Order: sequence, then structure tokens, then C-alpha cells
Amino acid sequence: MDAFRIRGGRTLGGSTTVGGSKNAALPILAAALLIPGRIFLRRVPHLRDVVTMQRVLEHLGVVAGYEDHCFQVDATELTSHEAPWDMVRRMRASIYVLGPLLARLGKARVSLPGGCAWGPRPVDLHLRGMELLGAKVSLDQGYVVAEAPKGGLRGAHISFDVSSVGATGNVMMAAVLAKGRTVIENAAREPEITALADFLIAAGAKIEGHGTTTIAIDGVEGLHPVEFENIPDRIETGTIMAAIAITGGRAHLEGVRPDQMAIVFDRLHDMGVGIEVEGRSLEVQGPERLRAIDLTTQVYPGFPTDLQAIFMALLCVADGTGVVKETIYSDRFSHVPELQRLGANIKLDGPVARVTGVPKLTGAHVLSTDLRASCAMVLGGLVAEGETIVHRVYHIDRGYERIEERLSTLGAEIDRFTEEGP
Ligand code: EPZ
Repeated sequence: MDAFRIRGGRTLGGSTTVGGSKNAALPILAAALLIPGRIFLRRVPHLRDVVTMQRVLEHLGVVAGYEDHCFQVDATELTSHEAPWDMVRRMRASIYVLGPLLARLGKARVSLPGGCAWGPRPVDLHLRGMELLGAKVSLDQGYVVAEAPKGGLRGAHISFDVSSVGATGNVMMAAVLAKGRTVIENAAREPEITALADFLIAAGAKIEGHGTTTIAIDGVEGLHPVEFENIPDRIETGTIMAAIAITGGRAHLEGVRPDQMAIVFDRLHDMGVGIEVEGRSLEVQGPERLRAIDLTTQVYPGFPTDLQAIFMALLCVADGTGVVKETIYSDRFSHVPELQRLGANIKLDGPVARVTGVPKLTGAHVLSTDLRASCAMVLGGLVAEGETIVHRVYHIDRGYERIEERLSTLGAEIDRFTEEGP
């Protein structure tokens, strides 16, 4: 297994271009199952999760090729309707194939995804959505077994009691070939869902209201191949900005979508970070010392839960006390004990963490527990005195393409090495 060795104390500078969005690329790749013909998807980051999705698609009969961040996908011939446990267990987002398989083949057998490091992550809203579209859904030995009615899925009125990115995307993909109109109430507004809708529209789907909480989809006979440019990754952008900020550095970012990051820019600004926006480029200036703020995670356009751990790392060395409330997941604080190993002063009380900034952190061995928590360890290591070893960085590789190279380019002293044993 790989680990990172980081020597703290370097100030980041220079320039970097952010990668394509993981959480937009995954549903868009699943949506390719709806389309006979060759599709080109550009600006796809080279990540473990993207490789896993490619394996799932190939298992279903899709011909896929990946070169220079561009995916070529041809789903003309599908040879299976089953997403096996061994693949789905690696990545919850494999559930995204459920809707497209039901729409295209009229049947699907998809392994239930496991829980995550921070508690169970149900898919009840996905399944309810498919049933409302007319599918018969049952569970069989850990698999979701779904079957469309004879004439195919039928448009329906679906109202989610919880705003769910995945369920919104899955139902939207199932509905694009259904008979009649589907309306999704309390739909997710995340940019990744808007990007999925834009991709489907480019392929001939009829969708309105994406980006709002009410999305309407009018079913069409079929979709046609497209070339599509993925959006940049707003969570990677926020992570790099936080790395620059925590080291008090100044650096330039290219290829950003500032319009999708208003709340993140506002909160960084409240912490004393200078941000100059020029089109899709940014100049980011970290302060001498960050100011503490309170943070509450919300659905988009609120503060993203995926940046909660990363901002907590900032608060660990900020001036003052910040209160972090996690409202999306029941227990997304696996990074807290690891940050405490670096000397952070954090008090946990259920879904709330009180973080009091300390003058300095001290390097230590820390464990990655999930994708974003691992980044909090890396950020801590960038400012901790001495050496920090971040173990099990395969978690980071799920969502960041060679992050150690990107940070080294910006001046960090970080390298990857392979270690024996668990
Ligand atoms: C997406 O996960 C992202 N993953 C997550 O990013 C992100 O944290 C999450 O949205 C919230 O923004 C991808 O896009 C691949 P949800 P998703 O359905 O779709 C509950 C990362 O770091 N829920 O919006 O699985 C659920 O338990 C990952 O890149 C149900 O109760 O999230 C959670 O509490 C981590 N029933 C809340 O809704 C359901 O059927 C939001 O989950 C579905 C969800």
C-alpha cells in the first residue's frame, strides 16, 4: 500500500490547472449506457473511482477507451444487465447504472452498495424512484433486482423527502426514455447533476429545471452519441485553495468554475484568504494566520459536506474557535482523531465539532479513513512541524489524480512511497 511522506513548513506558490469533476464524470459515464454509438467525454480525471466505473461498464458490454483525460465509450451492444458485488463494493456510485440499465434494457441486477466509513448510506430513494416509474424492485441476496413493465418505464411525479444527489441523477437517467413526463420535486441542485442533465440534453433528452429543486423530464424514443466536456472539480479546487491558504502561500489556479463555488469563496474570505477572480482563473493569497469561522454543511448551494474535513484542517491552526456542524451525514468525523494525533484541539459532540486553533501542529503517523478525510491529513502535514506520514493513501487516489505531484509542483515537500503490510 502507498503512503505519503510530508515535511511541513513550506509555503505554496506557482500555478496549477484543476482537473475534471469526479462526481460529474461518474454519472455521465453511467448515462452512456443509454446511448448506442460512440461518445467522447473530455476532461475526465484519472482516478480509482473512474477506473472502477470503466470496469463496471465493460462488464456490461460497453467498449471503453481512456487516453489523455478523454473517455471514448460505445454502448451499442450491452451483453449483461448485472453490476456484480465485487465491483460495486469498491464504489457506491456504481448504483448509477441502475437507472440507465432499466431504461435501456428494461431490467437490472445491481449489488447493494456497502456502508461507508461514516455510517450507512442507504439507496432507498433510488429504489423508490424506480418503483414510481413503474419498475418492480426486489432484493435478492444483496442485489437490487429491478424490472420495467412491458411497455417500458412510465413518467411519474416523484417527490424526495431528502435531497439526494445520487437518487436525483439515477431517476433522471431512468426517466429520459420513459413514456411521458416525469417531475422530480426536491431534486438535488448540485452542479454535477446539472452537468449530467446538460450531457443528456446534448444527446437528445428533454429536460428542464435542472439546477433548481424541480426537474421535468419528457421521455424521448432514443438518444444519440455526443462529444461532451466535463466540468471542473469544485471539491478539488476547494482542496487546492485550502492547501495554499493553510501554508500562507500565494498561487494561481486555472480552469475553475467560480460560479459553482460562491459559498466556498465566501468562507475562505471570512477566514482571511484573498481571492482574485479573472474569468476561469484565480489568484489565491493565504493570510499570515487564518481566522476561525463556524461552518455548517448543507446541500448545494450551501457549504459542501465534501469540504468539511478539509476546512476543519484549516480551523486546527486558525486564530480562535470554530464550530463545525455536519448535517448531511450522521458521522462524517473520522478525520478528527487523526487530526488530534497532529496536536489539534477538537471537541466532538454528536454532529458538532468545536475546533480551537493551536499555534502549531506536530508531524506524526496518521491513517487515511476516507477520501476527503485523507486530504485533511495531508493539509495538516503541510503545516505540521517535522515529518508526517499519511498511510493508506489509496483513499485519496479515489478522488484526486496524483495529488502529491500537484502539491509538489506548488512547492510542497511531499512524496509517495510503498510500504509493506496492512
Ligand atoms: C454524492 O453522494 C457524492 N458522491 C458524495 O461525494 C457527496 O458527499 C454527496 O453526494 C453529498 O453531496 C458522488 O457524487 C459520487 P446523497 P450520494 O444521495 O449521491 C441520504 C466524495 O467525497 N440518502 O446526496 O451518495 C444519504 O445517506 C463523495 O466525492 C438516503 O437517505 O449522496 C445522505 O445522508 C462522498 N437515501 C444524504 O441522503 C438514499 O437513497 C445525501 O446523500 C440516498 C441518500
